[in-house]
Amino acid sequence: MPWDTIKLNDGNSIPGIGFGTWKIPKGHETTDEVDQAISVGFSHIDTAQIYRNEEETGKAIRESGLKREEIFITTKYSGMDMLDIETSIKDSLSKLGVSYIDLYLIHHPRVARPDITTAWSEMEALKSAGLVKSIGVSNFGVKELETLLDKAKIKPAVNQIMLQPYVYAEQAPTIDFCNKHGIIVEGYSPLIPVTQLPNGPVTRPLKGAAKRLKATEDQVLLAWARAKGAVILTSSSKKSRLEGYLAAGDLALSEDEIKAIDKAGAKGQRRHYIMKRVKSALPLVCASVVAVALLNHYFACV
Ligand SMILES: NC(=O)c1ccc[n+]([C@@H]2O[C@H](COP(=O)([O-])OP(=O)(O)OC[C@H]3O[C@@H](n4cnc5c(N)ncnc54)[C@H](OP(=O)(O)O)[C@@H]3O)[C@@H](O)[C@H]2O)c1
Repeated sequence: MPWDTIKLNDGNSIPGIGFGTWKIPKGHETTDEVDQAISVGFSHIDTAQIYRNEEETGKAIRESGLKREEIFITTKYSGMDMLDIETSIKDSLSKLGVSYIDLYLIHHPRVARPDITTAWSEMEALKSAGLVKSIGVSNFGVKELETLLDKAKIKPAVNQIMLQPYVYAEQAPTIDFCNKHGIIVEGYSPLIPVTQLPNGPVTRPLKGAAKRLKATEDQVLLAWARAKGAVILTSSSKKSRLEGYLAAGDLALSEDEIKAIDKAGAKGQRRHYIMKRVKSALPLVCASVVAVALLNHYFACV
């Protein structure tokens, strides 16, 4: 079974898997990696104002030779450089070198300035003006979605959130809310149990399913995220991995395998948060160590 396209609540369709340009260094690497993803068969590219590589992404898209309607482009309003939404979309269109964006997202509720309702009405105006085909949000929880829907004329077509087994239990209320309101969930960073938290509780059921399906653990994670009804966003600099991601569209996990991954994910949820805390505290710890060293040096000199 290939990666199907999924119908959005505004009548447009989105490819079930997308290649993301986050973390790819600005410059020819982005153009080369997007070019490689398109050559391998990706027809959905996910970028953002804050990734600072829209220009290089657009270059690869233009050079691919694909017609504009053959490629699905998402970019996001990330609140960069204090630009407003209207100025930002015009800037993104110009950098990407296209006349419209397929899907434009508010990257995070905290960049919805001055408030969610006002920012969303500006997004609605972009759709009415034909600059974007679909509009949505990212990293919104239930409370923020409720605030948005309270005054919205157009429902968000998608909510792009992290979706991997170690956050699934926590994301479940948001996913349920999206399902109830016809908002498609896009799941980013699906491979965290392999890339950042290996050898955790999820490893065992992942390996089990991978063995049965003669697949890699990466592929099993993508099949798991798809089983949750999500559009998947992933990435790789390696052609063989990209080919594997696309081939994962043919994998079907059993109900028991999905349940085992969910259960192990819920068990390992704490690991995810401890890692997150350690990572966010690291700069502060480093700064404190440097400050103490400087003070020691100062007192040793006086
Ligand atoms: N809206 C948001 O706030 C938000 C946040 C994060 C991400 N996103 C979007 O989602 C996209 C995907 O996010 P992500 O990069 O976090 O997705 P991911 O699919 O979880 O991770 C992809 C990364 O995993 C590495 N990888 C794959 N298989 C591996 C393996 N077996 N062992 C070690 N490393 C492996 C790849 O590196 P190699 O190059 O070495 O293969 C690649 O860098 C982003 O590019 C972005 O477009 C959105």
